[in-house]
This record gives sequence, structure tokens and C-alpha cells, in this order.
Amino acid sequence: MEFEPKAIVFACNWCSYAGADLAGVSRMQYPTNTRVIRTMCSGRFDPEFVFEAFEKGIDGVLICGCHPGDCHYIEGNLKAEKKVNMTKELLHAVGMDPRRFRLEWVSASEGSKFASLIKEFVDTLKELGPSPLKKDGKGGKSGKDGGSSKQDMDLSRGESLEEEQKIGGD
Ligand code: FES
Repeated sequence: MEFEPKAIVFACNWCSYAGADLAGVSRMQYPTNTRVIRTMCSGRFDPEFVFEAFEKGIDGVLICGCHPGDCHYIEGNLKAEKKVNMTKELLHAVGMDPRRFRLEWVSASEGSKFASLIKEFVDTLKELGPSPLKKDGKGGKSGKDGGSSKQDMDLSRGESLEEEQKIGGD
């Protein structure tokens, strides 16, 4: 049976979440392996979210925000970019393949971009196999970067890390 990865997408309220919504209402087809978590801005992203997600069995994390110059909070997305780069270095230090964690800009009108981005991301995660950071005590080696094989977070039951905290007000 083909490995079905689980991924989380943190999407900013003002652009990317609307883009994801557009993909949905336009009935664009994309894999169901992801759960979208709305944040007020991509700058709300915290590296801890990523490590916690990986430890709970998530295989990939995608941060989506407004294009540079379009952030509702002026430069929240630029702050997100700095935090993402720092987080990538930390992930690299613990042996994670950097393709498991991405930052992308998706506007409210880019529903098709969102759909194709998700498809591409899930395809990459299938190629990489399970995340090696999952805390299951088994230290699996089935992933391409040394991952475990068992997942303990059942997203199909709607478990999520709902985060809708604001930065800098509305
Ligand atoms: S509001 Fe979209 S990235 Fe800041």
C-alpha cells in the first residue's frame, strides 16, 4: 500500500487561506492529505509549531502567506521568511530533509496555485516517506531521511492544531 503522508498547511487569513478557500469552492482537485490551519498572518508562525507537528507524526509542514508587499501587517511575511530560514537550519541539524518544510506565497486569487502546490508537496512527501522526528520510540528507518513508519495523529478524525491568534490586531 502506498504511503499516505500527513501534512499541515499554516495559511494566513488575508491571502493564502482565501486562496485555499477559492480552490475549494472552485472544486479544484488536490490531495486530502493536508489540513489547513488559519493564522492571521504567516508571521504568526512559530518554529515550535513545526517541531511539535513533526513529533506528533506530521510528515510535512507548509507555511503560506501573502506575496511580499501584500501582507496585511506590512512585513509579517518577511518576518515569517526569516523564521522559516532559521527553522530550516534547525531541521537540517536534526537530519530532516528540507523539502519537508516550505514557505510559499499564495494570494486570495491563486486557488489553482494552492491546489497544484499541495499536490506537488504531497508527491514530495510520498517520495520522502514518514518523518524521522516522530516520537514513537521506534526510531524507524523507512523514510528517505531515516523516518519511522507508524503515525499516531489521525487527521481524518479532525484533530488539528487550530491556531487563529492575531498579531498586531485585525
Ligand atoms: S497577512 Fe498574509 S502574510 Fe501577513
